[in-house]
Amino acid sequence: MHLSASTPLRGSLVISGDKSISHRAVMFGSLATGTTEIEGFLPGEDCLSTIRCFRSMGVRIEQRGSSVTILGRGLRELMPPAEALDCGNSGTTTRLLSGVLAAQRFSSVLTGDASIQRRPMKRVITPLCAMGADIKSISGNDCAPLSIRGKQLYGVHFNSPIASAQVKSAVLLAGLYASGQTTVTEPALSRDHTERMLRAFGAKVSTGSFEGRPAVTVSETENLYGTEISVPGDISSAAFFLVGASIVPGSEVVLRNVGINLTRDGVISALRAMGAKIEVLDVRNEDSEPAADLLVRYAPLHGTEIGGELIPRLIDELPVLAVAAACAEGRTVIRDAAELKVKESNRIHTMAEGLSRLGAKVAETEDGLMIDGGAALHGGEVESYLDHRVAMSFAILSLVTDGEVKITHPECVNISAPTFYEDLESLRN
Ligand code: S3P
Repeated sequence: MHLSASTPLRGSLVISGDKSISHRAVMFGSLATGTTEIEGFLPGEDCLSTIRCFRSMGVRIEQRGSSVTILGRGLRELMPPAEALDCGNSGTTTRLLSGVLAAQRFSSVLTGDASIQRRPMKRVITPLCAMGADIKSISGNDCAPLSIRGKQLYGVHFNSPIASAQVKSAVLLAGLYASGQTTVTEPALSRDHTERMLRAFGAKVSTGSFEGRPAVTVSETENLYGTEISVPGDISSAAFFLVGASIVPGSEVVLRNVGINLTRDGVISALRAMGAKIEVLDVRNEDSEPAADLLVRYAPLHGTEIGGELIPRLIDELPVLAVAAACAEGRTVIRDAAELKVKESNRIHTMAEGLSRLGAKVAETEDGLMIDGGAALHGGEVESYLDHRVAMSFAILSLVTDGEVKITHPECVNISAPTFYEDLESLRN
């Protein structure tokens, strides 16, 4: 894959469906009774893995591009899968499914690709076992493959040490089956799509705070009810174009139908703090998952500090924010982001390595990155480590490098953004 410095980005794009919301719509639709119709579904590899897993458990799912129809089987009528369930590269599929499978009347195995088999699963095994689950890491390293024997579960109060929506959601899904009530508290609010969508499917979910920490409670539930879900565009995909248009002089881009849920919009705050010119237009769907059009124009950026409670609101956007930082004047410090080490790749390392290969001044820290922006950026070869967001981040950086950037395995963008290269090209014409 070769990309070279470009003309301004101009025009408009409809941003494809949110990955987190697409996963949940398929899962909850499968677990509901009746029909669920999804519009705006993201047909990326991760969400297709979720569809594949539920089909293996007897759920009828018809998918035509971004439209999906599901004939749900109900919470307790999934069929035992004939083989191990393959979650591909998807952490969300693996972790959320572990919560569902822990409560079924059958045994199952959850597995995935090489990256999934390195990612930590103890974070879901521990709370689910506290609820009575029987989950074992087959290789004994707290990673997938996981062997899960379905059990009767009991409600607990789980005080999560990390702000992770995957952990929170795994416990809440198990909580639908557990006797009594299940509460999760977390150190900072992670994305709340599960809470919002479970309500749309008829579950009783209460949110608030407990001893100063965000808290959510669900009760044992008889039924979820099929519904219609409209998935907004993924702000994590929009982020690449927000940064691209901010760093290439003369750019002006409108990104249409972008989800701006408050638990996800940290990238807009961080870029604005760096001097970016972003306008949020025509906000809609404020009751369910709010969406808007984002107008972004080129602006000279300066360094900033990104840390604390902002981190869960922009965790997936940190790789491309590191690209913005390399193009900004002065120092950017990203801290409190040790979670980056356990994403699809170790994103602290993969971003530091690639950025410095292309001339940026960057240091890895224990929990983030320190980037001194403004250094001359040149072409070269960078490793994507098969990490979709790393590949897209370097594709955006290549818009301003002096010389071509070669990215290994550029096709890994299909995990979350199958139209990424076409979309980028369309803004350059
Ligand atoms: C996700 C939650 C986040 C995020 C991931 C998707 C989700 O992970 O990084 O891409 O859909 O719940 P954590 O919850 O592990 O932080």
